[in-house]
Amino acid sequence: MQYAPNKEDCPLPFSPFKSCTVPRPIGWLSTISSDGIHNLAPYSQWQNLTFDPPMVMFAANQYPDGRRKDSVINAEQTGWFVWNMATWDLREAVNKSAMAVASDVDEFELAGVTKADCINAPGARVAESPCHFECSYISTHRLEGNSNAGWVDIVFGKVERIHVADSAITAEGKLDIPGIKPIARMGYYDYTCIQDVFEMRIPGASGEAEDGLEGKA
Ligand SMILES: Cc1cc2nc3c(=O)[nH]c(=O)nc-3n(C[C@H](O)[C@H](O)[C@H](O)COP(=O)(O)O)c2cc1C
Repeated sequence: MQYAPNKEDCPLPFSPFKSCTVPRPIGWLSTISSDGIHNLAPYSQWQNLTFDPPMVMFAANQYPDGRRKDSVINAEQTGWFVWNMATWDLREAVNKSAMAVASDVDEFELAGVTKADCINAPGARVAESPCHFECSYISTHRLEGNSNAGWVDIVFGKVERIHVADSAITAEGKLDIPGIKPIARMGYYDYTCIQDVFEMRIPGASGEAEDGLEGKA
């Protein structure tokens, strides 16, 4: 089958679009409002953009009533947002933090997770999560949608500090991904959990190219 999503109805009962872009890492983002309210929400439209310096983005669709997401407003107002790694053990908390609640609700409390201080950012980190990025806000790029929820704020940030729990680091000095069990979004109501890792090297690659792929510091 094939279809033109901007002109034709989808011939399937569910759109295949999100299910084709899998798995999407979850940007579990904590921010604080200018009134000091802690906010927490998952964003699967989240990615690293580049590494020197490390930069990231998340794309926040507006609410159906046209309001912009609190994570965007807070990042713009305070100049900071914090990424927390979403893991299998934290899956229920991640899900609860997606609930649409009033902006004066402390979503750490709602999700039942503990606040850990940041070093640079004004908000908090999820203490139970093994990895965090404290990100300074760069800019927002708004793209027009076909509906209120189609309008999207793409927020860019620079990673100013990286935290990794010692217990999540292998003897080799790499992240213990099968131990961490990060979760990722797929289509529909589906998620996956990363537990299998395999390694491949580019044939003949050496020097800086190879080091860059491996992430040599
Ligand atoms: C796993 C997961 C991923 C999500 N990804 C996105 C996303 O990429 N963009 C978005 O606008 N909403 C996404 N949502 C919905 C938001 O988390 C939800 O609207 C949340 O209430 C936004 O909170 P905020 O207004 O406090 O930022 C996602 C929800 C879940 C459960």
